[in-house]
Amino acid sequence: MTARIINGKTIASRLTEAIAQKVNLRLKQALRPPGLAVILIGDDPASQIYVSKKRKDCEQVGFHSVAYDLPENTQESELLALISTLNADPVIDGILVQLPLPDHISTENILESIRPDKDVDGFHPYNIGRLVQRTPLLRPCTPKGVMTLLESTGEAIRGKDAVIVGASNIVGRPMTMELLLAGCTTTTAHRFTDNLAREVSRADILVVGAGKPKLVKGEWIKSGAIVIDIGINRMPNGKLVGDIDFDTARERASWITPVPGGVGPMTVATLLENTLYAAEYLH
Ligand code: GUN
Repeated sequence: MTARIINGKTIASRLTEAIAQKVNLRLKQALRPPGLAVILIGDDPASQIYVSKKRKDCEQVGFHSVAYDLPENTQESELLALISTLNADPVIDGILVQLPLPDHISTENILESIRPDKDVDGFHPYNIGRLVQRTPLLRPCTPKGVMTLLESTGEAIRGKDAVIVGASNIVGRPMTMELLLAGCTTTTAHRFTDNLAREVSRADILVVGAGKPKLVKGEWIKSGAIVIDIGINRMPNGKLVGDIDFDTARERASWITPVPGGVGPMTVATLLENTLYAAEYLH
């Protein structure tokens, strides 16, 4: 079997186009455009690339986009003060603080200071709690984007064995909750999992977000599985690879996402979707 490719780039640009049309409609109705504030602390090159893509797409769909680039030595109290101002700003629907933060700033304190109805990353304990309790409101972008990709295949999801590799707060844990909510039987594998190959081989739906290049071998994959690769790793030769060995995995999977051009573009499109949702229904 050679897998069909799930083209995240195409699906994301369709979603982005639909969002741009809805923004236009708002403007025609004399409503303000959705507003997103994106805060970047320090000069981590990967974060700079992600943030500039987020800001560019924001402007492309007609959002009001506000950028804050703060130095590495910014104090937690300064960041809290900025978030407090944005929490109260009526033209801002979403506040995104790019992670990871410098070590001297508490990620927990920062994420909890964002008003839950402006938390378009979906990382506030309120929004995570709602997802856990089956009443999601603002949902973490990458896992929600993966659900959109799964829907795009037209394959039935309910009742399937889903295995998630990686248990981070941003990806693995909310991904598990999304798949559980969709009716899958879920297993979350992580760095302490005894036998990763055995867990992976049970998956009808495999989602990997571990941040380790080619961690998952193609021969571990169940024939016909839907395979989603969230990893983006830059190799010493400059090439981007995922967490799954794509060339061998595509021989066994029924559907597979490429890297780049799979999950990555969906994360940004879903951020726009969340911000529009906040503007339309929460504010
Ligand atoms: N760093 C890596 N992924 C993300 C994300 O989805 N949102 C934020 N804020 N930071 C990230």
